[in-house]
Order: sequence, then structure tokens, then C-alpha cells
Amino acid sequence: MIKICLAGATGWAGSELARAIAKTDDLALAAAVSRKNAGRTLGDVLGDPLPDCPIYASAADVLAAPCDVFVEYTKPDSARANILTALERDAHVVVGTSGLTERDFDEIDRVARARRRGVLACGNFALTVVLLQKFAEVAAKLIPQWEIIDYAHDDKVDAPSGTARELAARLSKVRPPEMTVPLERTVGPIEARGATLSGSQVHSIRLPGYVISAEIIFGMPDQKLSIRHDSGGSARPYVDGALLAIRKVSTLVGVHRGLDAVLEI
Ligand SMILES: NC(=O)c1ccc[n+]([C@@H]2O[C@H](COP(=O)([O-])OP(=O)(O)OC[C@H]3O[C@@H](n4cnc5c(N)ncnc54)[C@H](OP(=O)(O)O)[C@@H]3O)[C@@H](O)[C@H]2O)c1
Repeated sequence: MIKICLAGATGWAGSELARAIAKTDDLALAAAVSRKNAGRTLGDVLGDPLPDCPIYASAADVLAAPCDVFVEYTKPDSARANILTALERDAHVVVGTSGLTERDFDEIDRVARARRRGVLACGNFALTVVLLQKFAEVAAKLIPQWEIIDYAHDDKVDAPSGTARELAARLSKVRPPEMTVPLERTVGPIEARGATLSGSQVHSIRLPGYVISAEIIFGMPDQKLSIRHDSGGSARPYVDGALLAIRKVSTLVGVHRGLDAVLEI
């Protein structure tokens, strides 16, 4: 049995994962984090026949009791501290929360390696996103110019999305993208060219009507290739990938980005 602490268990993504964990035979939800529901049980809050899982107000409280895997599914402003607390208590960590920076991941990696613990961070647990990342890496080997567009609902607070950040970081390991007109020679507001993340230009759109989409466009003279992923309205696509990450994270040491760290493709 893998004992899990789930931070963000009452949220849109975390509650779907909590329900799925409760249906498995090999994973046990030992405790959860939610500030508003501290002191209650998860079954009580979600209205489901979930096991009697206590809810605490903070990661520090929940980690007073040992667990095997800490799952971080809260918000960017709390994620870094939660992950470091979990590592200090010798838990492996699965990160679903988006918005962590490269610098955050460098620091987390140092702590995880020192404690011989695994951290598996997936900007997006959906299988179709894993494939988008793989296909984009193949394209980047052959096509030197690309830009990334990330679309999300208007109330998503972090930008660019975790998916876009992860994609840019992965492509930086293939090659730095080329640019015909360097940014500093832009005529007009330089922000119009987007943010530079790990060398890639990333453009974030936040509007009502969108759920979560990521698109990468590769351009060559007289031809272009777009690879795009669109999520539906439910958190279901993220569940299977998160369960796989929980089951496999203990085989890793240090920070690994993307589900393909534990998936044969
Ligand atoms: N990797 C993926 O595949 C994937 C998929 C979907 C979403 N996400 C990301 O996952 C994160 C959560 O998304 P969501 O849509 O589920 O958000 P949400 O519905 O707002 O839920 C957030 C959850 O975190 C808790 N929380 C928030 N701030 C906290 C804090 N400071 N300390 C402790 N708990 C806190 C909330 O409970 P309280 O307010 O009661 O504390 C709630 O349970 C976001 O970063 C999102 O972009 C990733």
C-alpha cells in the first residue's frame, strides 16, 4: 500500500484524483490539505463514500504523520514551500500544480537529491499532452523556429501554463530556437513578442470560453506545422497520469519533468 497525502484534495483537479485513489487497491489516501475544510473529513466535504481521510490546514500539519508520497495540487504561491516541507519529511513528491519556475525546480532538485527522494512534476498529466511534448521534440530536431501559445480560462492566475513552461524547458534541451529578427530589434512594444521561457517565445491567452489548450507552431519557409492539445471541461484526463506518477515516483531521485519520465514511449 502506498500512503498518500494530497494537498488540494477539495479542488477541481484534486477532488477527481481523490475519488480515483479511493477506488484503487494499492493506494491509500492517508490525509488531505485544504485550509477552508481543516478539521473535517474528505468524505464529508466531497459527499462521497471516501475513506475517513482527515483534512489539515497546511502541508506542515499533514506531514506530521509520515506518508510515502505527497501530492501537490494547490496553487503556485503555496506549492514550493509544500514540496520542500514534504521532502524534509522524506516523502516522494508528485507535483500537479503549475506556475513553479525553473529556479524553484533547481532548488527542489538540490533538496530532493540530498534526501534521495523523487519529485515527478507534470505540467499536464493527460496522455495527449505527453504525446504533444514528444512530437514537438521530434519536430524541433528538424525545424529550428517555433513559438508556443497557451490558452486558458480567464481566472487562471498563473501564466504561462505549466504545460507551456514544461514544453519550453524540454525543447531547450533539443536546441535553442532561432529568430529571424532578434527581440531587441523589435519595432514596437517588445511584449508583443511574448515572454521568453527557456529560450522559447510563449504567448498566454486568458479568456472566458477556454478550458486549457497548448499549441506549438513550427515555421519554415513557405510551410508550417501546428501541434495542438485541447482539454475538455472535466478533470478526468489528468487522473490516470497522476495515478501512474504516484505509483512510480519512488523509483526516481531528484526532479523529473513530464510523465514520460515513467512512461515507455
Ligand atoms: N498537472 C495537471 O495535469 C493539472 C491539471 C489540472 C490543474 N492543474 C493545476 O493544479 C493546480 C490546482 O488546480 P485546481 O483547478 O484544482 O484549483 P482549485 O479548484 O482552486 O483547488 C485548489 C485546491 O488547493 C487548495 N489550496 C489552495 N491554496 C492553498 C494553500 N495556500 N494551502 C493549502 N491548500 C491550498 C484549495 O483548498 P483551500 O482553498 O480550502 O485551501 C483546493 O483544495 C493549479 O495550479 C492548476 O493549474 C494541473
